[in-house]
Amino acid sequence: MAHITLHTLQDMKERNEKFVCLTAYDATFARFSSRAGVEVLLVGDSLGMVLQGHDSTLPVTMEDVIYHTQCVKRGNEGALLIADLPFMSYACATQTLENAARLMRAGAHMVKLEGGAWIADTTRLLTERGIPVCAHMGLTPQSINRIGGFRVQGRDPAAANTMIEEALLLESCGANLLLLECVPRHLARTITEKLSIPVIGIGAGPDTDAQIMVVHDLLGISPITPRFVKNFLLESSQGIPGAIAAYVKAVKEQRFPAPEHCYD
Ligand code: KIV
Repeated sequence: MAHITLHTLQDMKERNEKFVCLTAYDATFARFSSRAGVEVLLVGDSLGMVLQGHDSTLPVTMEDVIYHTQCVKRGNEGALLIADLPFMSYACATQTLENAARLMRAGAHMVKLEGGAWIADTTRLLTERGIPVCAHMGLTPQSINRIGGFRVQGRDPAAANTMIEEALLLESCGANLLLLECVPRHLARTITEKLSIPVIGIGAGPDTDAQIMVVHDLLGISPITPRFVKNFLLESSQGIPGAIAAYVKAVKEQRFPAPEHCYD
């Protein structure tokens, strides 16, 4: 696969061509996924739940994400590599710059951070210094104790309007990608149409510019199965590489997510 850059993803949005994202935590899965045509690999702090067995992403450290980013970088064959800034690693400016630089040195092409208006200054700070930012809105698992559980966000009109305004604000501050997690389909569609940057969805319906899944969900081996998850291993005759290829094909052909995977 040719090397995917932010320009590639921006061009795909403009051509209305869906792109595919998947979490990866090691070199082997990074190799399989990039060979199968996954355009974006995410070293997500979901590793705290699916690899380490915690009940949230809060215990994940910078050292954890750096280690897995180094592993994924070795196996990656051309995908854009995003690494998560974990809980409390971007609480103030100096700390943010230092930690984002550590992820970029480990092999990330971009960092992801969770939040709305409060990460606007941070987004500007990072992008002005050459570090691309993927903003993560909607259900933000690092704030799970404030949100009060893994639940759909932006259901009422006031919350939906705030999310739209904050997404536009982050774009104006330089965010290069937006990830929306667990929001109603119509809200994700509105935000995707209003923003010029590509929008990636998980539990956000089929109208975003791209989809992302946690690889353990795609293989049906996660302890919990939210509504938006599909087990692609069930339709693979070629094991794990076949399951990843089936996910890529289903997103590209706009067969996934189907109505039963969406919130309305
Ligand atoms: O950490 C992660 O894996 C994520 C996904 C849920 C998108 O942020």
